Amino acid sequence: MSIKNTLNSRFETAMHSLNIPSECTPLLNLSGKPQFGDYQANGAMGAAKHLKTNPRDLAQKILDQVDLAEIAEKTDIAGPGFINITLKNDYIADCLKHCLDKPPIEPSNVVIDYSAPNLAKEMHVGHLRSTIIGDALARVLEYQGQNVIRQNHMGDWGTQFGMLIAELELQLSQGEQAELALSDLEVFYQQSKKHFDADPEFADTARAYVVKLQSGDANCLKLWQQFIDVSVAHNSDIYQQLNVGLTTEHIKPESAYNDDLKWIVEDLENKQLAVESDGAKVVFLDQLADKNGDPSPMIVQKSGGGFLYATTDLAALKYRVDTLNVDRILYFIDARQSLHMKQVFATSRKANYAPDTTSLEHHAFGTMMGSDGKPFKTRTGGTVKLADLLVESVERAEKLVREKNTDLNEQEIITIARKVGIGAVKYADLSKTRTNDYIFDWDAMLSFEGNTAPYLQYAYTRIFSIFRKAGIELEEFSAKITITESQEKQLALKLLQFNEVVNQVAIDCYPHSLCNYLYELSSLFMSFYEHCPILKSDIDPETTQSRLQLCAYSATILKQGLDLLGIEVMEKM
Ligand code: ARG
Repeated sequence: MSIKNTLNSRFETAMHSLNIPSECTPLLNLSGKPQFGDYQANGAMGAAKHLKTNPRDLAQKILDQVDLAEIAEKTDIAGPGFINITLKNDYIADCLKHCLDKPPIEPSNVVIDYSAPNLAKEMHVGHLRSTIIGDALARVLEYQGQNVIRQNHMGDWGTQFGMLIAELELQLSQGEQAELALSDLEVFYQQSKKHFDADPEFADTARAYVVKLQSGDANCLKLWQQFIDVSVAHNSDIYQQLNVGLTTEHIKPESAYNDDLKWIVEDLENKQLAVESDGAKVVFLDQLADKNGDPSPMIVQKSGGGFLYATTDLAALKYRVDTLNVDRILYFIDARQSLHMKQVFATSRKANYAPDTTSLEHHAFGTMMGSDGKPFKTRTGGTVKLADLLVESVERAEKLVREKNTDLNEQEIITIARKVGIGAVKYADLSKTRTNDYIFDWDAMLSFEGNTAPYLQYAYTRIFSIFRKAGIELEEFSAKITITESQEKQLALKLLQFNEVVNQVAIDCYPHSLCNYLYELSSLFMSFYEHCPILKSDIDPETTQSRLQLCAYSATILKQGLDLLGIEVMEKM
C-alpha cells in the first residue's frame, strides 16, 4: 500500500471512532511545503463544519486518536486545522523496499482505439498524437496488469478508394509495377486526384469503381488489396521507427465491419432511433441538441444507400462489447471529432449496444502547431510526412550527439541518435497537456536541459555511469537504505509516488503527469547526487551502499517510466 493510502486509512479509522460521518474524508495529500511536513491531512475543517465544532479542536482530537506510531516522526496543527505529518526516515526506507511492487488489481478488458490513419495517404504529423498517446496508455494499462486490446481502426474504405484503384489500374496498364507506382503514396494520391479532376472519363471510372468495390467485384478488390498492402507496410515501418507496439495483428480496419452496416441501420430503424430524412437515414439526438433546442443529427445511411463513418463506428463499438467483452473503450482521436464520438456513444447507449457498465471514453487532443501558431506544415504549406519528420529528428539528434561526445564509436552514435531523436519528438508531445494545442519546436525538444527526453535519458546515463565506475551490476544491486540527508529523503518520497502517478494516468489518460513526475524525479536525483557523495573514499561503506541503492531505484523507475511512454534509454550518451 502507498504511504498516502496507509495514512488515509489510519486517519479514516481515527475519524470513524470519533463518530465523524464517512462522507468527511481525511483529504490526505503530499505537503506543498516540505519544511512543514511530508504529508498533510486537510479533512478536519470540513468535518468540523459538518459537526458544527471548532476545527482546530477537532484536528487535535483526530491527532490524539490516530495511530501513526511507526510512521510519523512528528505531527502538528497549522492555521485553521491543517494537520502536518513528518514521516520517520526509517519508515520511508522500509517502504522503499516495495517501491517497485505493483498494486494488485482485478484485470479488466480495455480496448484502446488509436493511431487509425486513413490508408489513402501516407501517415503525416496529424497522426502522431493519437499514435503515441494511445500507445503510452496501452503500455500503462498493460503494466498495471489490465488486459489491453489494441484496435487500429484504419480507414481503408470509402469513396477515395475508387479514385485510387482507377489510378493503380491505369498505371499498371502502362507497364508500371505496383510496388513502384505506390512507392510514394503521397505522389500517387496527387496523381490520381489530378486525373480525377481533369479527366471526366477517369472520374466516371473512379465512381463506378466505388460501387463495384462495395459490391465485391473481384478485380476491384484485387487492386484495392494491393494498395492496402503497400499502405499498411508503410505504416508498420513508421510504428517500428516510433517504437510503438502496433502490429498488423491489431488492425481491425473500417472494411472489417462492412457486412454489419446494413444490420445496424435496420436495427436502429426497428428501435425507432433512425428515421428517414430527405432520403437519408438519420438518428436525431435530443441530448446533444444545439442552442436552439434542435436535436443533433447523425446520418447513418446516405440517400444513395452508402454508409458512413458513424455507422462503422457503431458497428465497431458493438463488436467490441459483444465479441471482445470489453469493460472500457478508450478512443484517442483529435478533439475535432468530439461531436462525432458523443453521437456514437449516445446512440450506442440508446440502442443497447453498450451497457452502462461499459465505460466509453473519448480522450481528445489538440493540434500540433508550427512556430507561427498555425497547424504544422512544410515550408511550402504542405502536410509534413511523419516519415520525413522522424528522419529529420534523428539527424538533428545525431549532430548534437557528435558535438557532445567523442569517445562513442560510430555504431553507438547511430543508436543513441535514434533513441534521442525519436524520444525527443514523442516526449515533447506526451509532456504537454493532451487537450491543448502545442507548438512544435526542434530546439526545445532536443535540449539537454529542462523537461525533455534528452534530459531524462542523460539523467539515466549519469546513474548508470556511477555503477559502471563502481564495477557493480545495477539490475542486481540490493542494499539496506538509511536516510539521513534531506536530499535523500526528498528523492525517496518521490520514488514512492511512482505507482500512484501511473495509476492516475491509467484513469484520466493524461500522460503528461507521468512526464512531470519523471522530470521531478530526475531533478531530485541530480540534487541528491550533488549533495550526497557516493563513491568518495571518505564515505563509510554502509552509506555508499545505501546511496547506491537509492541510485538503483532511481534508474529503475526512470527507465520503467520512460518505457511506459515508449521512450528508450541508453547506458551512455
Ligand atoms: N481514420 C480516422 C481519421 O483519420 C480516425 C479513426 C479513429 N477511430 C475511430 N474509431 N473513429 O480521422
